[in-house]
Amino acid sequence: MLAAEASPLVKVGGLGDVVGALPAALGALGVDTRIMLPFYGLVSPRKQKISKVFSFEVAEGGRKEKASLWRTVLPGSRTTVYLVKHPYFRGKEIYAGGRLAKGKKYTRGQDDIRRFAFFDKAAVAALEKLDFKPDILHFHDWHTALVPDYLKRSGIRIKTVFTIHNLANQGLMDGRFFKRENLAVLSGFPPQISQDFMARGVLNSDFITTVSPTYAREILTPEQGVGLEGVLAARRKDLRGILNGLDTDFFDPANDPFLKKKFSAPDLGSKIDNKLELQRRFGLPQDARVAVVSLVSRLVWQKGLELITDDFADLDCQFIFLGAGEKEYENRLKKLAKKYPDKVAARFGFDEGLAHKIYAGSDIFLMPSRFEPCGLGQMIAMRYGTVPVVRSTGGLADTVDRKTGFAFKEFRAKALYHALATAIDSFYHRPRLWKGLRAAGMRKDFSWTESAKIYLKLYQKLIRNGRFH
Ligand code: ADP
Ligand code: GLC
Repeated sequence: MLAAEASPLVKVGGLGDVVGALPAALGALGVDTRIMLPFYGLVSPRKQKISKVFSFEVAEGGRKEKASLWRTVLPGSRTTVYLVKHPYFRGKEIYAGGRLAKGKKYTRGQDDIRRFAFFDKAAVAALEKLDFKPDILHFHDWHTALVPDYLKRSGIRIKTVFTIHNLANQGLMDGRFFKRENLAVLSGFPPQISQDFMARGVLNSDFITTVSPTYAREILTPEQGVGLEGVLAARRKDLRGILNGLDTDFFDPANDPFLKKKFSAPDLGSKIDNKLELQRRFGLPQDARVAVVSLVSRLVWQKGLELITDDFADLDCQFIFLGAGEKEYENRLKKLAKKYPDKVAARFGFDEGLAHKIYAGSDIFLMPSRFEPCGLGQMIAMRYGTVPVVRSTGGLADTVDRKTGFAFKEFRAKALYHALATAIDSFYHRPRLWKGLRAAGMRKDFSWTESAKIYLKLYQKLIRNGRFH
């Protein structure tokens, strides 16, 4: 598996969770699954053993660049991780360069285009030399979408699976870079499609998956296809939605090292201790009776943060926000916290431990996403006995129903307000319903077991079928 993130080594969002967990689930089914990542500056040899495998060269803009391959183990598992070392990844940041929005499309700056194209090329070059010869290359999101291009160039024949975690992040190369890399023009599509990493991944891989069945249908429509609905339609027969799972050991309220007081479905008593501790930590009045409503999210357009308005201060609850991302959204939440210091508290930055404490200590979890390919936040919340209030879209529609949470359809502040008000009312006045919602959420199987079996069947089918796309 090739990707830009794998938790707990490198994580910005759900992509890291998935790439960090699926290999172990496949491992349990007998598949020798190994991960390849860029060797980012933040992956520290001081924290774990990392050893060199070999040095190699990568063609880059007419020169040969020196790179090296390193090997480690994903902490908390037995999964082998290969790391591609090159000065492009020396910095502490995972994603460099600004993010340019073009309508609904997001792309990174050309720095990231160059970095990740290099990673793809280097990964293929390393595979040519490596003694591990996989039957399948499974790669994730736009960062790795040029793998089939470089694979074709190398002459190695390996079946490929491309997973779309987020179609809105496409990776658009400029004309100069496109020319320099000498990539084939994709005929039958508008010229800019050839310069789009995501489109190339879709058109050149043997099979394409996305992270929930509903999202697999949505991306074929002009509303959610982000300009690639035509490209996806061309591969419709080889496209399938497979619902993400969770690493249920890492997200386990009964055994979570980030929690002082653990709890489980039959013994929810200590959930209250987590709530009081959370209120203390966030400087809110400590009160076990008040409903605590939380949000843990990347702060980006996708996540529907503008639906949370000043009007929400009328609701009888406390709000706790944890987010990292764009300043505009951070400022909105900051303002709310400043205006209503007894009701709203916010922290910014990425903090895995704090996220776990929030899932554990809240009563209600918000996910008002504009679109959501799968969403793990709502699943983690349910596992921690926290009832989700979500917009019914993508994977949220596939994972939250009336037995486990509250959903609203229209992307409007009023609709979210109404759903949240109903949830809060149920929390205070319908204790039996509330108990049932929590219990149903905690009972649900969010493990990777079933989905890993589906991936395995897909790999086997691709291997049996001698034909390459
Ligand atoms: P996305 O991948 O779009 O960000 P998901 O719901 O699939 O959304 O996954 C988000 C993952 O990232 C979850 O594990 C969530 O807890 C975590 N996360 C998001 N923001 C933060 C943050 N600021 N600090 C810690 N964890 C975060
Ligand atoms: C993306 C999506 C999210 C999904 C995650 C893991 O970041 O935004 O919905 O859960 O990838 O697949």
